[in-house]
Amino acid sequence: MAARTLLDSQSSSGTSWHHLMFLIPVVFLAGFTWSCPSRCHCVAQDKVVFCHSRNLTAIPGRIPPDTEFLDLSRNFLRTLQGGMFSRLQALKELDLSHNVISNIEHRAFHGLQNLMSLQLKGNRLDMISGGIFAGLSSLSVLDISDNKILVFLDHSFEDLSHLRKLEVGGNPLVFISSHAFRGLQRLQQLHLEKCKFTSIPTEGFSHLHRLVELRLKVLNISIVPDHSFKGLHHLQVLEIHRWPSLTTLRPQSLSGLNVTSLSVTKCNLHDVPYEAIKPLAHLCVLDLSYNPISVIYGRKLSGLSHLQEFHLTGGRLVTIHASAFHGLAHIRLLNVSSNHLQTLEEDVFHSVGNLEVLRLDRNPLACDCRLLWIVRRRQRLNFEARQPVCAINSTTKGKFFHRFSDLSPGHFRCRKSKIEDKKTLQTVNVEEGGQANLTCKSRGDPPPTISWVSPQDFTLDTSHKGRRAVLSDGTLKIQYALPEDSGQYLCIATNTAGNDTKVARLHVSGPLFNSSFLSKEVRLLNGTRLPLNPFLVDISTLVGILAIGIVPFLGSVAVCFLFIFLWSKGRGNAKTYMAESVPRYPRSWKPVANKCRPVNQKPR
Ligand SMILES: *[C@@H]1O[C@H](CO)[C@@H](O)[C@H](O)[C@H]1NC(C)=O
Ligand SMILES: *[C@@H]1O[C@H](CO)[C@@H](O)[C@H](O)[C@H]1NC(C)=O
Ligand SMILES: *[C@@H]1O[C@H](CO)[C@@H](O)[C@H](O)[C@H]1NC(C)=O
Ligand SMILES: *[C@@H]1O[C@H](CO)[C@@H](O)[C@H](O)[C@H]1NC(C)=O
Ligand SMILES: *[C@@H]1O[C@H](CO)[C@@H](O)[C@H](O)[C@H]1NC(C)=O
Ligand SMILES: *[C@@H]1O[C@H](CO)[C@@H](O)[C@H](O)[C@H]1NC(C)=O
Ligand SMILES: *[C@@H]1O[C@H](CO)[C@@H](O)[C@H](O)[C@H]1NC(C)=O
Ligand SMILES: *[C@@H]1O[C@H](CO)[C@@H](O)[C@H](O)[C@H]1NC(C)=O
Ligand SMILES: *[C@@H]1O[C@H](CO)[C@@H](O)[C@H](O)[C@H]1NC(C)=O
Repeated sequence: MAARTLLDSQSSSGTSWHHLMFLIPVVFLAGFTWSCPSRCHCVAQDKVVFCHSRNLTAIPGRIPPDTEFLDLSRNFLRTLQGGMFSRLQALKELDLSHNVISNIEHRAFHGLQNLMSLQLKGNRLDMISGGIFAGLSSLSVLDISDNKILVFLDHSFEDLSHLRKLEVGGNPLVFISSHAFRGLQRLQQLHLEKCKFTSIPTEGFSHLHRLVELRLKVLNISIVPDHSFKGLHHLQVLEIHRWPSLTTLRPQSLSGLNVTSLSVTKCNLHDVPYEAIKPLAHLCVLDLSYNPISVIYGRKLSGLSHLQEFHLTGGRLVTIHASAFHGLAHIRLLNVSSNHLQTLEEDVFHSVGNLEVLRLDRNPLACDCRLLWIVRRRQRLNFEARQPVCAINSTTKGKFFHRFSDLSPGHFRCRKSKIEDKKTLQTVNVEEGGQANLTCKSRGDPPPTISWVSPQDFTLDTSHKGRRAVLSDGTLKIQYALPEDSGQYLCIATNTAGNDTKVARLHVSGPLFNSSFLSKEVRLLNGTRLPLNPFLVDISTLVGILAIGIVPFLGSVAVCFLFIFLWSKGRGNAKTYMAESVPRYPRSWKPVANKCRPVNQKPR
């Protein structure tokens, strides 16, 4: 009888006779009556019943009561009635994904006390009412992703005290109430994806004391408030992926966490969140890929002494400063492929001794002496079959690193910085308020960076913005020159191969108005500094005022002279009047000075 049933079902689903002959003794030995439902396919020795993609609108009858795995996915089941599985007490896995289930009645899963995995992905559930999971006392995996659930109310999951993994992706959740996850005392993995809530459900998460892995993907959250993940003391893996509105992580946002893996990928971070990650002393993997980050600064990651993997692929990296990975003695993998890096110097690392995997491909690399260390280590380094390639316009034009079997002269070499026109001392004379350009043209491979040292020993470089700025061609541009700018300036051209210097002299000629008031700067309320100098403020207005003022003034002086000439022997001097008329001018600026707080500081 058993053999006949088996024969029917097996042959209908096309299993070979060879297979069947093997099964018969197993079935007899087990002593079970295996009656496979006519539209399903069974594997008796595994106690498995497959009824997927059968256009079923109801659960087929005659499912053997000792079935452990039942696959009902991709059918047209609409409602799960109370007690409908109560005969299948041996069930360990139930797959109901991709049906049209919109209603789960109370006690629908009653009797499934051995069920460990329940798949409800891709249905039409719009709410999880309390009690629908009653009786699932062994359930450890629940997938309710891709449904239409809008809210998680309090105690939605409270019957699932053994749940380890909860998948919630693809529900238009707008709200997670603060006790929604209460009772999930063993939950280790939680995945939320494509939900519609716009703030982190911190209170909800705080019940998940055993959570180890939290993945939050495709969310429109712009702020991670301080202490967002408080209470998640066991969390090891935090993944934040595709949060397009996230531009920064606040310094305290990750406080309380002790994760070993942090990913913040495909967000909009413009900077490495140094402060936020600083407390993560046990961090082992940091992934900041696909964020518009352009610089990694030196010595700002030193606290991450356990870090082994650093990923920042597909970013906008232009510079990794020296000592960027200072303190990271265990770094094993660096993945910075697809960025705008021209080089990666050895002194970026704490030590390259532990480096095993290096992905530097798809960067416009300048193959000069700065990359020589990679060429020398190319046998030991794993490029994952993506060799770095020299940029098209570097001397080695598009060559793969592994092609450099023996280093021919000219490749991976540098030329020392050299400043042109050093012989003649450059002297620039300019009137106060004028503009002075001190030039410093240099050559070298890699192109040298220029800095200037002012007479006051202040170093200016291209990052310096303000009245005195270093242009990209090395010129020091001084606007609204002040007498105290006068003196000797030193230009320094630096590249890896060596430095070169030259001296230039600036003389700013005497002040027209020697009033300390004129040459000070003021600080606006928002912090912007503004030099308070009439020439800068509006020289044409000043000329206009003077011109308009002088005509009637000269007229009255002339009348005066005539008057004096006629009535007595005149001894007046027009110049005196001129000189007296001028100091009126700064007084007209008093209101500005009143609005803005002047700063008793020399402009730099
Ligand atoms: C399910 O229904 C579709 C059309 O309604 C049909 O093409 C398909 O063969 C049916 N599948 C089964 C297993 O009956
Ligand atoms: C993201 O949220 C902001 C408000 O926080 C809203 O203005 C914006 O439209 C949302 N974007 C999307 C794609 O939903
Ligand atoms: C942080 O985690 C590491 C291992 O992941 C563990 O050794 C360490 O004790 C934890 N620190 C705290 C404060 O929990
Ligand atoms: C490095 O990044 C690339 C591009 O994102 C990726 O394909 C590759 O798997 C990464 N390698 C490692 C070891 O993570
Ligand atoms: C290649 O040329 C571009 C523009 O001509 C320049 O910006 C870039 O720095 C050059 N790259 C190298 C590696 O020299
Ligand atoms: C200084 O250089 C700028 C260009 O950056 C130019 O417009 C200006 O005329 C120059 N000034 C002098 C005094 O050469
Ligand atoms: C170049 O100058 C820097 C300081 O500006 C100094 O640290 C470095 O040692 C110098 N290099 C050479 C080759 O002189
Ligand atoms: C401008 O006047 C101050 C005193 O008001 C004086 O100390 C300073 O030397 C003068 N500066 C010049 C360049 O004459
Ligand atoms: C400060 O205010 C001034 C004028 O109101 C404006 O030009 C400047 O851009 C402001 N600076 C900042 C940093 O907001």
